[in-house]
Amino acid sequence: MEFSQGLISAAYIIAALLFIFSLAGLSKQQTAETGNWYGIVGMAIALIATIADPRVDNVWIILVTMVIGAIIGLRLAKKVEMTQMPELVAILHSFVGLAAVLVGFNSYFEMGHSVMTTFSDSQQMAVNIHLVEVFLGVFIGSVTFTGSIVAFAKLRGIINSAALMLPQRHKLNLVAGIIAIVLLVTFVQQGGGDNTLYLMTFIALVFGWHLVASIGGADMPVVVSMLNSYSGWAAAAAGFMLNNDLLIVTGALVGSSGAILSYIMCKAMNRSFISVIAGGFGTNVVIDTETDYGDHIEINAESVADMLNGAKSVIITPGYGMAVAQAQYPVYEMTQALKAKGIDVRFAIHPVAGRLPGHMNVLLAEAKVPYDIVLSMDEINDDFAKTDVVLVIGANDTVNPAAAEDPTSPIAGMPVLEVWHAKNVIVFKRSMNTGYAGVQNPLFFKDNTQMLFGDAKDSVEQIFKAL
Ligand code: TAP
Repeated sequence: MEFSQGLISAAYIIAALLFIFSLAGLSKQQTAETGNWYGIVGMAIALIATIADPRVDNVWIILVTMVIGAIIGLRLAKKVEMTQMPELVAILHSFVGLAAVLVGFNSYFEMGHSVMTTFSDSQQMAVNIHLVEVFLGVFIGSVTFTGSIVAFAKLRGIINSAALMLPQRHKLNLVAGIIAIVLLVTFVQQGGGDNTLYLMTFIALVFGWHLVASIGGADMPVVVSMLNSYSGWAAAAAGFMLNNDLLIVTGALVGSSGAILSYIMCKAMNRSFISVIAGGFGTNVVIDTETDYGDHIEINAESVADMLNGAKSVIITPGYGMAVAQAQYPVYEMTQALKAKGIDVRFAIHPVAGRLPGHMNVLLAEAKVPYDIVLSMDEINDDFAKTDVVLVIGANDTVNPAAAEDPTSPIAGMPVLEVWHAKNVIVFKRSMNTGYAGVQNPLFFKDNTQMLFGDAKDSVEQIFKAL
């Protein structure tokens, strides 16, 4: 079946609109599922229209490739743990980057080199524009490709998550950028040039690798969403090369939404957006292992249950440990039990709690915790002082008072949930180990804090029983 060009354009417009509705839907938990469906339907329409394009001469190659991709994708998606999602996203971004590089090379070689000198002015202009598209597509694609592989390897623990601190690293990045601009000018002026393209690809691959390698573990969430943005721009560049309007629109949507998300996350972590994008921000800090914070106080599950029975208001602040322990289901049961006793229970969600944006919201929604008691940091931070008990379930960096009180801390300035203002704080974790950023948490040593050691799921189940 072949579509006419008009029908394809109409299908692309509908798909583009559905992608926009999808993004709008995904911005709220209540509408996220509908948003997902808009995206699925939009993508199905886009795929059908693309395959039915009369310019496609071998439909079977596309179909067979899609089936192989779908089988691998389905298997991976079923197997992947929620906590491994950022790794999966990172490696998927690397594919987008690689695809843009391949499309760029293909488009360049298909254009041929000899024809370029025999064009009229306007044709020459079109050729120049195409050369710029090729250059930018291959450049952004290469940066995204190696950058995403490094992000994947860091998140997976294959390589050290600490920032690589090469001497003069910002200058190295700057020099790479300047060389790339010079190569772009040469490439266009000379009507192409295989060696120029190869050299730029090599520089971009090294640049992408260095950009992400020089960003430390605590900034990884921003890196993943930044690469998401880069992969969108790489796709948009591929759209220009392939003359595919839908790919341009979709790439721009992904590129700009990724950039907005990176900006929001930078604000949530008090990081400078530009510095993170440029690579290697927040790495000139020394982790302090000397300070003596004093002793911590331990508590058991039964005593926590007694404390909760005597409380009027409780706030639960979940973190990465709740995800690891899969404690969200017993947490929901405990919440119901407390609410049945007339206790006001709410959840406080830090924007970068866990390991991916919205991680805690997804887990709590999975366990059927009602949305109206799940509040964001800004909505609830002033209420801790009026709260009887705060249960910190597997969170660490996101409740670290050092961020607010110690300007020398590696996480200084990152807005945190100010749980220490509450009357009592119970911290659920297995040991005195640090969190993701690798810094000690003075909260654990405060007079109003008590530590409940053990796997978070077991601890919550014991409290539920005792309640
Ligand atoms: P973290 O600071 O990562 O701390 C998690 C805590 O959970 C650890 O202290 C760990 O202590 C405890 N834990 C682990 N497994 C547990 C289990 N089975 N039972 C009980 N406790 C367990 O958590 P957070 O407060 O959610 O902060 C997130 C951090 O990750 C931030 O630094 C953020 O920048 C970073 N990050 C975030 C993202 C996004 S987008 N959300 C992505 C990548 C990185 P024990 O080992 O002692 O149990």
